Amino acid sequence: MPKKNFIDDLISRMTVEEKAAQMLQVPVSVVGMDEARKWARLGVGSFLNVLGEDMEELARICAEESRLKIPTIFGIDAVHGHCLNKDATIFPSQLAMACSWNKDLVRKIAKITATEVATEGIQWTFSPILCLARDPRWGRTNETFGEDKFLSGELGAAMIKGYQGEDLSDDTAVLACAKHFIAYGEATGGRDSYDTEITMRKVRDEFLPPFKKAVDAGVATFMTAYGSLDGVPLTANEKALRGLLREELGFDGFVVTDWDTVNALINRQKVCADHKEASRVAAKSGNDMIMATLEFYKAVIDQVKKGKLDESYLDEAVKHILTIKLRLNLWEKPLKKGIPGSIGCRSHLNAAVEAARESVVLLKNNGVLPVRKGKKIRRIAVIGPNADDIRAQYGDWTYFTHPVPGIEKEPQRPYVTILEGMRDIADHKGIEIRYSYGCSVNRREYYKGNFESIPAFMEQCYIDNSRKTDTYKEMPFINEAASLARECDLIVLAIGDNYNQAGEYNDRAELRPSGMQEALVRVLSTLHIPMITVVVASKPLVLTDIVEKSDAVICAFNGGMFGGQAVAEAIFGKINPQGRLPISFPVVTGQVPVYYNQLPGWHEGRYVDCTEEPLFAFGEGLSYTWYEYSDLKFNKRTKTVSVTVTNNGKRRGVETVQVYVNDVVSSVMTAVKNLAGFERVELDAGESKTVKIKLEDEAFSVVLPDETRVIEPGQFEIFAGHSSKDEDLLKVTVTL
Ligand code: BGC
Repeated sequence: MPKKNFIDDLISRMTVEEKAAQMLQVPVSVVGMDEARKWARLGVGSFLNVLGEDMEELARICAEESRLKIPTIFGIDAVHGHCLNKDATIFPSQLAMACSWNKDLVRKIAKITATEVATEGIQWTFSPILCLARDPRWGRTNETFGEDKFLSGELGAAMIKGYQGEDLSDDTAVLACAKHFIAYGEATGGRDSYDTEITMRKVRDEFLPPFKKAVDAGVATFMTAYGSLDGVPLTANEKALRGLLREELGFDGFVVTDWDTVNALINRQKVCADHKEASRVAAKSGNDMIMATLEFYKAVIDQVKKGKLDESYLDEAVKHILTIKLRLNLWEKPLKKGIPGSIGCRSHLNAAVEAARESVVLLKNNGVLPVRKGKKIRRIAVIGPNADDIRAQYGDWTYFTHPVPGIEKEPQRPYVTILEGMRDIADHKGIEIRYSYGCSVNRREYYKGNFESIPAFMEQCYIDNSRKTDTYKEMPFINEAASLARECDLIVLAIGDNYNQAGEYNDRAELRPSGMQEALVRVLSTLHIPMITVVVASKPLVLTDIVEKSDAVICAFNGGMFGGQAVAEAIFGKINPQGRLPISFPVVTGQVPVYYNQLPGWHEGRYVDCTEEPLFAFGEGLSYTWYEYSDLKFNKRTKTVSVTVTNNGKRRGVETVQVYVNDVVSSVMTAVKNLAGFERVELDAGESKTVKIKLEDEAFSVVLPDETRVIEPGQFEIFAGHSSKDEDLLKVTVTL
């Protein structure tokens, strides 16, 4: 491997043009191969969104035909599996994976994803997202680990370790990317990329901790956020990029901007007059690599040559990039090798099954679940738009939502939808499954209570052409579903949202299920047949009426390839659901934000027309057994919580013990409670275990108005139990 001063030597031989090219990331999906080849000859630092032979050709041009033969790197959004490759293993979305609260599983999935990405030759994935989804109207809620900083930090660090492995030069290790820095999820009104109305003190307190854990886990790259913080775009935010990230957290990798954010400084956020100013601002603020703003190249060269920008800014950025390239050992291995034959292999698919099972969250059960033979179920009606829709099950960031040129857009096997999963198990039990579509997930509309109110601009549904229909014309489908259900002993209804309601540009003002889905539930509930509602969605939806009308409710978010199988296994009791919510569900949309760790108000936080409690709280999740907590203790010296958990039911299960801390009196207001630790414990029926969880010092700290984090002595309440709800928690009060 080349020596470290190799980089300084290389930089000393680079022209300004070569440095500018090294700082550029070119989107091949946009410019096409002809232009990409030209950039490769100029020695561009990175490409994104290119696979296969095209990628190999670009790698070869950079490494062999550019003047200094500096190898390039390829980046891709492999955010829940190497999903932009149609043959890859598709895991549950980050939000669905977070339901497992399982760091080992998340790390394993990341390792598999890295292996598949590396087998394609690629060295970099733009994952994980460490933004907090505290406003579920935000379109990218599905991409997060949910609403909590501690859970996001723990799972994010595990994911980074899985992607990067022990050594970046390993054949199966790829660069992780902590994104989007910072507070992106807090965009005003849940509108992607809007300004964030919070102070730097809050940024440090609420949003920095997961990113700090990412740096501590050794993450190699960071991505900036689209939005702005108190009026300063993150791409132009020197305080965030140089101050917080480099100086305070000690990050030593490289920073890439988000897509075209340097252009956005001019034409959207309007803080720069032209590309010359924008390129100067971007370089000075601490961005090392510029994604997709190709104008940066000429503009930055111009500014350096005119003496408006010190060349040392370019040297610094290039050094960050080349250091990571050196750690990847790119000069000897310009492309990753991975493990030939591993993409979508059986052991990877098995891990996707395991992940899907752990992502299932049981939210309500009046005893109808699990479905057993003895319950005299002979015929089950499987109904609903998401019962047999693999696109809804996968969610965003797959080959059919973000196509790379030349990739097949039709979902590829193997995968199992809910309908298929139900059929597989029911066949063995001699139970008949009948299926009816019910209604579509109409993208924009939600049912407004009467059919006349449906506006004329009603969009056509997306599912497929044979079902292309205006929403108001869907009553016949609903009637058909009801007729079919009448002949059955049980209804399994799968509703939710679809991938075109999630992701960038897809924020929602209304969180009630769209289209005629609520009408479908209402009609089916009048039949008085036991009904299990399964929610396949990218985020918490408003399910208040639906929960009331259902005998059981399962939240399945976007479960990936085997999400349907996992749901069916939960319904038939082949698995004991163990998922816990990483995010709270509002009672009505206007109740948002409803995340659990808010600051205390003094009018009880209640609306006159709505409770202050969420419909389902952070940490909630039932199973086919139940647990009792006892004997909560806290060791002040070791800061360790100990609590005994007993499985009081008749089945083996996995309980996630959650520990929360409340600083009783502090010089600034603190949240009513904050998650400070968790541990999954497996218990046989009747078994008890004492669980010990060591808390970090940070759990007892506050961020003062001068932005310093300190531990103030005094009383702390320590809670341990099943969820964030007070009634699920034991409490001890200690003085530290
Ligand atoms: C997204 C990033 C993503 C990038 C590259 C952007 O639009 O915000 O999360 O990594 O595109 O595809």
